[in-house]
Amino acid sequence: QDELKDAVAAAAIDEIRPRLDRDTILGVGTGSTANRFIDRLATLRHDFMGAVASSETTAERLREHGIEVFELNSVGTVPFYIDGADEIDPQLHMIKGGGAALTREKIVAACAERFICIADASKRVTTLGGFPLPVEVIPMARSYVAREIVKLGADPVYREGVVTDNGNQILDCYEFMISDPVAMEARLNAIVGVVTNGLFAARGADVLLLGTENGVERFE
Ligand code: A5P
Repeated sequence: QDELKDAVAAAAIDEIRPRLDRDTILGVGTGSTANRFIDRLATLRHDFMGAVASSETTAERLREHGIEVFELNSVGTVPFYIDGADEIDPQLHMIKGGGAALTREKIVAACAERFICIADASKRVTTLGGFPLPVEVIPMARSYVAREIVKLGADPVYREGVVTDNGNQILDCYEFMISDPVAMEARLNAIVGVVTNGLFAARGADVLLLGTENGVERFE
């Protein structure tokens, strides 16, 4: 799987390289696949201006490579957001947030012209929900939100010891087979105390670069 992650990181570099110029600011995701992308991006650091990070961890890695990190509010939109996924379906809807960075990931993705998802073949599913869906909650609302999620048929589990970059907590929702990701994303967002849920459906990926044993497959 490490080799597949490397292959899709390289494919993402190939995908964006022709569009880079000195003014380009990229959106960069979080996780082990995104880290491989960041490491490759370092070799191009003189060809673009910098990046907006979807987590403190990613910001630190970018800076270590000499890539300038910008505040999203001072940037506006980014041409590309490049990130991994925990699951992705044929419509390029995703579950994300295994690394607890879902809220900032979703914000940067919302500001991107194109979301390029990089993932190894194990992430490809027919129906989302095998991976427990992360939901970021305001701490005082955690129990209330969990009870509301039980009513939707899932089994929420508090990710103990994890505090998000925004100072919030995570509920991982098990046993959640999600037949209509767009509707479920909106429904979860409507629960008071939910900050974000890990369904990226209303705004899914635009391109999937999938690492398989036969090479990188591209879906759009
Ligand atoms: C981080 O919160 C997640 O959304 C990651 O993008 C996702 O978990 C994929 O991570 P890996 O690339 O490590 O599998």
